[in-house]
Amino acid sequence: MTDVAASSTAGAGAGASASASASGTQVVPNDFQTNIQYAEMEYPNPPKMAVQQYSLPPLPYAYNALEPAISEAIMALHHDSHHQAYVTNLNKALASYAGAANIADQIALLPCIRFNGGGHINHALFWRNLAPPSSEDAQNPEASAPNLAAAVRATFGSFDALIDRFSAALNGVQGSGWGWLVRTAVPQGGLRIITTKDQDPVVGEEVPLIGVDVWEHAYYLQYMNARPQYIDAVWTVINWTEAEMRYNHGRDSIFDELLAHMEADP
Ligand SMILES: [Fe+2]
Repeated sequence: MTDVAASSTAGAGAGASASASASGTQVVPNDFQTNIQYAEMEYPNPPKMAVQQYSLPPLPYAYNALEPAISEAIMALHHDSHHQAYVTNLNKALASYAGAANIADQIALLPCIRFNGGGHINHALFWRNLAPPSSEDAQNPEASAPNLAAAVRATFGSFDALIDRFSAALNGVQGSGWGWLVRTAVPQGGLRIITTKDQDPVVGEEVPLIGVDVWEHAYYLQYMNARPQYIDAVWTVINWTEAEMRYNHGRDSIFDELLAHMEADP
């Protein structure tokens, strides 16, 4: 506590809570103490934070719809068990965060929120940027994604060149991670291929257009350790219509699916 003479202008903003000491000097709390007093006065019981809770979005197609590129068994396990686990653990972490006693306990939860929140975002995007191999969405990128196609030609020269570059990046991911085709902010509407580690999502102003999961759980049941074969097959089930939508409408549009499966737990 800081004692100052009554004539001092120090702590003028806290004058309302000042009191007189036995020596006649005015006792003015420092800013930190003042803030606590104000907080206690205005919020005798700290307001309870609303807890965001997420649910698992259903697949936009049947479990066997991506065969032969990705088997029904992989899709069922990947979606129902792996993605569900990220959602479950994210919800637990968010509830713990809201109920944490102090900022240090909240900070301790951030890695868990990052990992499971990223897992939820990445898989929700992944399911929707895949489509059955016989569909128009997957078979004809030039027709399904005209604006994206122009950007692909400007950046890579052709879709074949994009696929070669993207495949090399995916095969180069060490351990578990993701590869992404993103729309860049600078230059506006440009394209870039990036990879992210573990479940790190694409953050900032870049827009993830196509994500490919190269965790072993995404292909091991079918391809064992032959990741290149899985990557070759993935290109037959890319939903170019979804990629075009993301390219045209930007970052807000990609979170519609997540927002539709989010609610505040009262
Ligand atoms: Fe996955």
